Amino acid sequence: MKKSLAIIIILILCILAISCGGSFSSKEEAVNVEETVSDEYIVVGFSQLGAESDWRSANTESMKSAFTTENGYKLIFEDGQQKQTNQITAIRTFIQQEVDYIVLAPVTETGWDTVLQEAKDAGIPVIIVDRMVDVSDDSLFTCWVGSAFELEGKKMAEWLKQYTLKEKIEPSDIHIVNIQGTIGASAQIGRTKGLADAATENGWDLMAEVTGDFTQAKGKEVMESLLKRYDNINVVYCENDNEAFGAIEAIEEAGKKTGSDIANGEIMVLSFDGVKEDAMNYVLQDKTTCIAECNPLHGPRVKAIIEALEAGSTPEKYSYVDEEIYSASEVVKNLSLDGINYDVTILTQDIIDQRSY
Ligand code: AHR
Repeated sequence: MKKSLAIIIILILCILAISCGGSFSSKEEAVNVEETVSDEYIVVGFSQLGAESDWRSANTESMKSAFTTENGYKLIFEDGQQKQTNQITAIRTFIQQEVDYIVLAPVTETGWDTVLQEAKDAGIPVIIVDRMVDVSDDSLFTCWVGSAFELEGKKMAEWLKQYTLKEKIEPSDIHIVNIQGTIGASAQIGRTKGLADAATENGWDLMAEVTGDFTQAKGKEVMESLLKRYDNINVVYCENDNEAFGAIEAIEEAGKKTGSDIANGEIMVLSFDGVKEDAMNYVLQDKTTCIAECNPLHGPRVKAIIEALEAGSTPEKYSYVDEEIYSASEVVKNLSLDGINYDVTILTQDIIDQRSY
C-alpha cells in the first residue's frame, strides 16, 4: 500500500515537472517571437510639430503612408501640439525606446542642441524634415529635406513686382500687410525675408507684419484688427493657405472684395502651400491671386534617405524640393531671379485634378 502510494506521488511529481518545463519553454518562445518581429522592422520615431494647417495634415498623411509595416517599418508618431518642449520629450522617449531612426519636423529653428546631442550620444541618426534646425554643430543631425522657404518668398515678391509693373501701379501705392507664420519657424523666417527685402528694394509700403501662427482662426483675427487699423490695405501676404482662408473671411465680412483688381479697390491675397481643393479653387475664383507652392509630400523622401543609410550610403546633407508658383492670371508668365528663370503655372481645373494633394 505504502509502496503504491509512493509510486503515485512520484508519478504526479513527474507530470508536474513536465508540464512546468513545457510552460517555461513556451514563454521563452514567446519572447523570441517578439524579438524576431521587432527585428524585422525598422523602427522610426517621428516627432511631428502639430496639426495647425491643411499642409501639416497632408504631410502627416504622407509620412504615415510611407512608414507602414507593409513597407517594413514600425512608426512611432508623436504630435508636438506646437510646443517645442513636447517635441524634446518625444525625442527623449524615442532614445529610451532605442528606435533605429528619429525624424524631427521642428516647430522653430533654435533650442535643439542638447536633445540632438543626446540622440547623437545614443548613436541614433536624426533626419530633419520640413523646417530646419539652427544648431552650433551640424553633425548633430544626419541630413535635412524640405522647402527653400526664402526662395518661395522671393518668387512671390518678384511675381508681385512684375504684376504691378505691367498693371502700371506705382510702388508707393502698394500697401501691404504680412500675416506671418509661427515666429522662429524656417517657413516664417524665409517668407518674411523674401517680402521685406523686396519691399525695401522696390519702395513698397509694407505697413505691418503680424503673426497668424499658420492657422485660419488667427489669420482671421489678425486680419480683422488690421482692417480696423488701416483703411488702405491692397495686398495681404499670408504665409500659408489657412491664414489666407481666415483673412478672406475677415475681408468679406468687412464688406470688401478680394481679387487681383487692386486699382479698383479689390484686396489682393497672396499665399503659400497650395494644398489641393480649397486653396487651389480659390485661385481659380481669384479670391487668392497667387500661391507659391510648398510641397508636403516628404514621406517617400525621408523613406529614400533611410533606405540609403541602410544601404551604407551617405545622403546629401541638405535636399531642397523643387516647387512651382501658381496663378490664374496670365499677366505674369515667368520670373527671373538671380539669373534663374521660373515659369508661373497658369492654373486650370485640369492641373488641380491631376494633383495628388
Ligand atoms: O513649414 C511648412 C509650413 O508649415 C507650411 O507652409 C504651413 O502651412 C505649415 O503650417
